[in-house]
Amino acid sequence: MNVEHLEVKNFRNIEYVYLDPCEGVNIIYGENAQGKTNLLESIWLFTGCRSFRSSKDSELIGFNKNKANLYMDFFAADRQQNASLEIGEGRRFILNGVKMKGASQIMGEFLAVVFSPDHLSLVKDGPYERRRFLDIAISQLKPKYGVTLSQYNKAIAQRNILLKDIQFHSELYDTLDVWEDRIAFFASEIIRQRIGYINKLSLYTDEIYSGLSQNREKLKIAYNQQTVVYGDDKQELYENMKNQLYQSRKNDLITGFTSVGPHRDDLSIKIDSLPARTYGSQGQQRSAALALKLGEAAVIKNFSDEQPVALLDDVMSELDTGRQNYILNHIKDWQVFITCCDPTAVKNLKFGKSFQVKNGACL
Ligand SMILES: Nc1ncnc2c1ncn2[C@@H]1O[C@H](COP(=O)(O)OP(=O)(O)OP(=O)(O)O)[C@@H](O)[C@H]1O
Ligand SMILES: [Mg+2]
Repeated sequence: MNVEHLEVKNFRNIEYVYLDPCEGVNIIYGENAQGKTNLLESIWLFTGCRSFRSSKDSELIGFNKNKANLYMDFFAADRQQNASLEIGEGRRFILNGVKMKGASQIMGEFLAVVFSPDHLSLVKDGPYERRRFLDIAISQLKPKYGVTLSQYNKAIAQRNILLKDIQFHSELYDTLDVWEDRIAFFASEIIRQRIGYINKLSLYTDEIYSGLSQNREKLKIAYNQQTVVYGDDKQELYENMKNQLYQSRKNDLITGFTSVGPHRDDLSIKIDSLPARTYGSQGQQRSAALALKLGEAAVIKNFSDEQPVALLDDVMSELDTGRQNYILNHIKDWQVFITCCDPTAVKNLKFGKSFQVKNGACL
């Protein structure tokens, strides 16, 4: 999958840009506040997802303009395609000349992964961010997973309400069984899917991280269960999960909160056997987050046979030349857009194209 031409009009500070990227690495460089991230954001919007940095579409339209227009020629599913997006009162997508009914209809047609400085939270913040990363990544590959997850969350919320109600209505105690049965059923599927996904993802993240660190460091990711639920198959996981819930009743009745299950689990990220969150340097944390995002793209490629376009916003800062060099010259067969401020990065680029952005225009 790759972008062949991009046209951007009245989008944030970009009045007009026409871009002719190459199939490999494309560097977008320039000083702060010139429109580099805006350009990446415009490409991202063709995925049909919301912006990776603002929730309101109105913020995307240039000041004093009433609509933004984006157009892209791209290669996907073995053929040339084109898409246009108008952002005004709402979003209007046209794919290969056909009006789309909504953003959901365009999803999956143009694939991209984005790495922005916010994604460092994947490594630095608490387990919630990492669970979210796993859940979104799996849902994209298997939409049914998203349904299971929401049913699980509802069942957990019901059990939590019940735990509190039992304090005043002890006759409700027996109904715990009904919710625990549902929770165990959905939990077994969630745990199975997450472990399966991490096993696949780790094949790529190990390799990418080794490349980034020039084989000096090793990254290991694993599923980290707060309460371990064993099981070789779904049935065994289900039975063990049910048992864990039963055992936790006494404690959970005191706290009014369900203490076991995948909503408490984490993705463990270790560099040379030490947790990246607590011991990783800034460069190591950035490298680990980047390996996760690029690994996510590699899993999509393996699953769908389409290589998503990689949009890497400000990924170079805090990385030494060896790591920068890997990103610039060793990511093969893959269209990548990288923004950076430092034009010397362009000198280190062996193949590929570079574009300077100044005051919302491409020089
Ligand atoms: N809707 C809008 N209309 C006009 N300008 C906007 C709009 N939204 C944002 N901007 C402006 O776009 C400018 C460039 O933003 P952008 O985030 O792309 O910069 P950048 O080149 O990535 O800078 P940095 O190197 O600091 O990350 C900002 O100064 C911002 O004020
Ligand atoms: Mg930026």
